[in-house]
Amino acid sequence: MNCRITLLPGDGIGPEVTEGAVAVLDAVERKFGHSFGLTAMPFGGNALDLTGVPLPEDTLNACKQSDAVLVGAVGGPKWDDIKPHNRPERALISLRSALGLYAGLCPAVLYPNLVSASALRADVAKLGADILLVRELSGGIYNGEHGYRDGALGQEAYDVEAYAISTVERIANMAFELARTRKKRVTSVDKANVLTASKLWRATVDRVAKGYPDVELVHKHVSNCALELLTRPDKFDVVLTSGLFGDMLMSELAAVVGSIGMLPSCVVGKGAIGIYGAVHGSAPDIAGTDTANPIGAILSAAMLLATSLGLRAEAAAVDKAVKTTLSKGLRTKDIAHGKKHVSCSRMAEEIAMNVLNS
Ligand code: IPM
Ligand code: MN
Repeated sequence: MNCRITLLPGDGIGPEVTEGAVAVLDAVERKFGHSFGLTAMPFGGNALDLTGVPLPEDTLNACKQSDAVLVGAVGGPKWDDIKPHNRPERALISLRSALGLYAGLCPAVLYPNLVSASALRADVAKLGADILLVRELSGGIYNGEHGYRDGALGQEAYDVEAYAISTVERIANMAFELARTRKKRVTSVDKANVLTASKLWRATVDRVAKGYPDVELVHKHVSNCALELLTRPDKFDVVLTSGLFGDMLMSELAAVVGSIGMLPSCVVGKGAIGIYGAVHGSAPDIAGTDTANPIGAILSAAMLLATSLGLRAEAAAVDKAVKTTLSKGLRTKDIAHGKKHVSCSRMAEEIAMNVLNS
């Protein structure tokens, strides 16, 4: 297959983990005879330094002309004083909306080999976890009105959480359809005891659920869900929630599976160009040290192969290569528990080699 993948390495450890993912994609090209046409573009803080905006026109156009986008990470303390609308993180939100994307997917699997790296108590970790977090990313507080105004106590800042029924229906349908391919259980997470937007969310998910009588639906308040993910992670299958709650729960899932470096994710929409990238941020404290964990980025590349390119066998080969590498005992620092560890580039090379040898 000939295609075009736009790389947005971004800031901090973004370029290092992206390089790892590229090494694995190179191996897939060689092994299976594809040409992925990888092109890197500025994005986030580095784009801001270079052009004055975090999402330059050229970068956006390159993304629009590609089959899929692979992103590293954006942001860092260097850009902390930038106004919210121009911050590196805004590049991600603007790109999602420019590509018409609405669903953030994050599969969180606790690998048997990494049970000891999980933050969970051993007897809970042993129960395992295989969760798919589904976040709504086109509406909600990230995309609502933001601003400053005069309040009773002087100037105040505000961000609006708003959800249209059709927006909730669209993401709920996706969550139920995905649940049908898994353990057929959807946990919808909201704060319906307080928030009006959550009340509409819950009522809408209930209506959508009627079309999926074969899928079990449970509602949970986000506070309770945050607790139960740590006490009975094995009870969850698909977790459906808003962008902000999902962002928090995704980081919590990182502790469940052992490290935020392990988690892949993507943002997609039906028939749209998807964005793929690890859940972790730019980790400026370890940037440039070749100690990051590239597995989240590599598994994101595998999601890209399966979801945007339909290359399921290739994606499975990458997943398997990750498992093989972990089972051989290779660990990056974040999952090594103070024991011997390898560098980011070495981990990626080993996974790439295991793809070639599969
Ligand atoms: C993520 C990030 C983004 C999000 C931010 C940077 C917009 O935290 O992908 O998890 O919350 O969607
Ligand atoms: Mn996040």
